[in-house]
Amino acid sequence: MKILVTGGKGLLGRNIEAQIGKEHSLIFTDIEEWDITDEGQGEEFIRIHRPDAVINLAAYTDVDGCEVEVEKAWRINCEGPSKLARLCERYGVKLLHTSTDYVFDGTKDTPYKEEDEPNPLSVYGRTKLQGEVEVLKINPSALIVRLEWLYGEGGENFITKVVRLAKERGRIEVVDDQKGSPTYAPDVVLPIKKLLEKGLSGIYHVANSGSCTWFQFAKEVFSLLKIDAEVNPITSDRLNRKAKRPSNSVYDCTKLKRDTGISLRSWQDALRAYLINTP
Ligand SMILES: NC(=O)c1ccc[n+]([C@@H]2O[C@H](COP(=O)([O-])OP(=O)(O)OC[C@H]3O[C@@H](n4cnc5c(N)ncnc54)[C@H](OP(=O)(O)O)[C@@H]3O)[C@@H](O)[C@H]2O)c1
Repeated sequence: MKILVTGGKGLLGRNIEAQIGKEHSLIFTDIEEWDITDEGQGEEFIRIHRPDAVINLAAYTDVDGCEVEVEKAWRINCEGPSKLARLCERYGVKLLHTSTDYVFDGTKDTPYKEEDEPNPLSVYGRTKLQGEVEVLKINPSALIVRLEWLYGEGGENFITKVVRLAKERGRIEVVDDQKGSPTYAPDVVLPIKKLLEKGLSGIYHVANSGSCTWFQFAKEVFSLLKIDAEVNPITSDRLNRKAKRPSNSVYDCTKLKRDTGISLRSWQDALRAYLINTP
């Protein structure tokens, strides 16, 4: 397959090439080459490259920033994907769009299934949810892959941040009232590849298995790295961030397993792999 990737310089884009690139031809773009809010630019790309699929990783992912730059959030997270959906529908190109656990309010006390009622708590969540809705309305054969708590090589992430702060300060505080599944970005690539190869449509939840709070995640990082720092649990209220986050972000990934045979390794095994791969 020839696959065009938008938003390809971000966290997931940096982690995607090694695995899909062996079997499929990938062309990476980011905002400098293809701004997804510019339909004309997108049309030119599709006409020149004639891809079989487009993977949309482009998004405004600064969750607190979205509370301030609301119009920008709607433009990038909702209008952009709608334009992609229209283009892909017009040119017969498969669209795989990525979304988030922040479409949920976190009040469910068991893992979230794809058909569970969304109820976003933030501008980011609302714009991503409406993006999903528009994409599937315009292009019913599109795929929506919902991801969560991603980390991977390149740039700062939760792990590099807590390690840096612990080294600088000797003690850190981490929220203990948000539960999710930390997910190693390279691990979501095989599911993405399989979903595309099988020509599937609709929404899929993809995450490493098991769950923890951010506090428990930090504790596991320090334990594996043998870092002797004091880690204290705090509530989200203490952080006083602009955007509210769901207290439960855990996905039920049985639909992915049923349709592709894939279930991802535990978050602890994935974390070990990341720490071994990262110098
Ligand atoms: N990271 C997570 O924990 C997480 C969790 C759940 C879901 N997701 C979803 O997974 C997908 C990929 O996330 P990520 O973490 O890789 O995001 P990311 O690191 O923020 O990367 C997004 C990329 O899109 C680019 N971009 C922004 N506006 C654009 C536009 N108008 N046209 C084209 N490119 C544009 C960004 O460029 P600039 O940096 O220059 O803005 C950036 O390179 C997104 O759909 C996100 O909502 C991520």
